Amino acid sequence: MTAEVATRRDAAVVRAAHPFAFPLVSAVPGPVRRVPGLGVIVKDAALLRGVLMDSAHFSKNGPGAPSDLWTPVLGPRVLLNMEGADHLALRRQLAPLFSPSFVDGFVAESLGAATRSLAAALAAGEPVDLVAHARRGASHVISRLVGLEEGRFDDAMFARVSAVTGYVTLARPRLGPRQLASARAILGELGEHAARAYAGDESTVPGRMRALGLDEREALGAVGAFVLTGTETIVSYLPRLVALLVDSGWHARIASDPARGALDAAIAEGLRVTTPSPVMLRAVSAPTRIGPVAVRPGDRVILGTYWADTALGAFDPEGNPSASLKQLWFGAGAHYCLGAPLAMAQIRLALDALLAHPGLRIERRRPARGVLIPSYAELVVRA
Ligand code: HEM
Repeated sequence: MTAEVATRRDAAVVRAAHPFAFPLVSAVPGPVRRVPGLGVIVKDAALLRGVLMDSAHFSKNGPGAPSDLWTPVLGPRVLLNMEGADHLALRRQLAPLFSPSFVDGFVAESLGAATRSLAAALAAGEPVDLVAHARRGASHVISRLVGLEEGRFDDAMFARVSAVTGYVTLARPRLGPRQLASARAILGELGEHAARAYAGDESTVPGRMRALGLDEREALGAVGAFVLTGTETIVSYLPRLVALLVDSGWHARIASDPARGALDAAIAEGLRVTTPSPVMLRAVSAPTRIGPVAVRPGDRVILGTYWADTALGAFDPEGNPSASLKQLWFGAGAHYCLGAPLAMAQIRLALDALLAHPGLRIERRRPARGVLIPSYAELVVRA
């Protein structure tokens, strides 16, 4: 199979998740356009980066922005609905949690056992569902982030968190009363565990946040933000990356190369082609222009990162067009993904196990339907 076909198969995952929004946004012509009832849609990488870097005119806090969705659930101080000096100060306080030394230890502790069992199942020639593996891994990571005992964050809890992000659609900028109640219930439950951990010693992430100077409200908000942003993105990305690698023939190429020369480019290209977080939202806080389109307060800006990234063509670790995008798939500017080092460490750990088998093949796949973050529901591989 060629890289073009592999890339088209990945696009089918996005279409399954968003059967209406995906063709609709894809059909919007040009780099930027106002679409009545939806907002101003931006699909060009340079314009998109310009909006992300311009906090004088665009905000995550305001009508149609992420604050409309998450402030009623998590309160007003959870990074993804903050701007300005307060936001910067909170990010600085959290930075040590994402330093390479902390992340490496954290990932080894939370994912070591799951990765060893993945390696053993592959070595035994057993079929492995990489979605289930990624979900188990994400659950271990969340347990640690929240300060839960091992295994307490089970599949049922995972499904409840996914249901919360599943409420969000492009056409629905706010949660309805029933959705809000169920979102508050699951995040409130996680918050109770996090509060207990916060009060304890530094061996848990909430406890460490207290040592870093966060007050309890900030720590619980950060935990909520991590759960909402850092779970499904990874569960989406890992199986989609492996499908791209195997489908395009790059898995066998990289696995057979002891120097793993193209690995970094393959991971970046996978992030570009899949863009696990396909859209970002902003409110307009002061009148300005996005390219030729004038915008004013009250407008909602829909940043179509997926379309900007995939405009550079099919999965191509050799030409590596992703290099020009400066990791746009993780955002840019003040809100650039705080968890990027954690995401990269998780991906590398799983790939180490998978690349031990050049003959890895995909036995079964099924894209998930009607979810916010496009993913496979099942991707079964065998070595
Ligand atoms: C492949 C995986 C991931 C992708 C593609 C991704 C993508 C993104 C993007 C695009 C943003 C910026 C959103 C915007 O500006 O509107 C973001 C923000 C964020 N991400 Fe990630 N993310 C990933 C994994 C993670 C993980 C594992 C965590 C862990 C805790 C995480 C935590 C965060 C947080 C806290 C923010 C908000 C930062 C802020 O507003 O200052 N992400 N992510």
